[in-house]
Amino acid sequence: MAPDARVGKLWIGTNWKMHKTLAEGQAYCSELMRVAENLHPDIELFVIPPHTHLHALKTLMARSRVRLGAQNMHWEDEGPYTGEISPRMLAEIGLDLIELGHSERRQYYNENDADINRKVHAALSHNLRPLVCVGETAEQRKFGITEEVLAIQLKIGLSGLSREQAEQVLIAYEPVWAIGAGGVAAEPGYVEDVHGCIRRLLAALFGESGHRIPILYGGSVSESNFETYLDRRNVNGLFIGRAAWDIGRFSRMLLAVHRRMSA
Ligand code: 13P
Repeated sequence: MAPDARVGKLWIGTNWKMHKTLAEGQAYCSELMRVAENLHPDIELFVIPPHTHLHALKTLMARSRVRLGAQNMHWEDEGPYTGEISPRMLAEIGLDLIELGHSERRQYYNENDADINRKVHAALSHNLRPLVCVGETAEQRKFGITEEVLAIQLKIGLSGLSREQAEQVLIAYEPVWAIGAGGVAAEPGYVEDVHGCIRRLLAALFGESGHRIPILYGGSVSESNFETYLDRRNVNGLFIGRAAWDIGRFSRMLLAVHRRMSA
């Protein structure tokens, strides 16, 4: 199994959400770095911990291939925004990625596509690669408007980007109905169809550059289903929550991907 030639790599990572103390995170990352040493070079591995852990984990993983990201940020460099973290602060830590527009942020903190667009531009101006999450709700799927919803999220979220900037973006397709404890994993065939639709949208917006943007699937990815997504067209990676929070389980999944890529 080889990654899509135009995307180049297979991206596999985890969003810890609001889980793990710093001590737990350090133990996890120490083990992850060890596992990462022997993984196929075409696997791009990333971890997205809570903000309070980022500086210490960057120090711990300074010489590791594991990429580090944050779960959210404001779009301004500084200002009267109590409780917020700025792109300038995150860039100083030396992060690679910034996750933007996760459905939990849209749902509980009223983030909208225009906010996400401001954050995408702010991230790129600080050399942080935005990982933009998109996906429809169960109701939107029921009404048959998934494609329209994704078009709105992508057209607004990525508005104003040059082709060169677009190549720095990653997309995570995370249907809202598939995420978390109450979620149901999407069928691999459905994921392939939706990723195809996202790819066409990206190509319409950014031409050939749209073909180089990795599209990851996320939502109830587990040790028993993760391989079913990997052979599908336009699935350029996996974005995993619960199933990757145990380092033993995540390592087994990574080693299985490594064996498939080395075969
Ligand atoms: P789960 O894998 O726990 O469903 O969460 C996915 C997710 O939200 C990744 O951002």
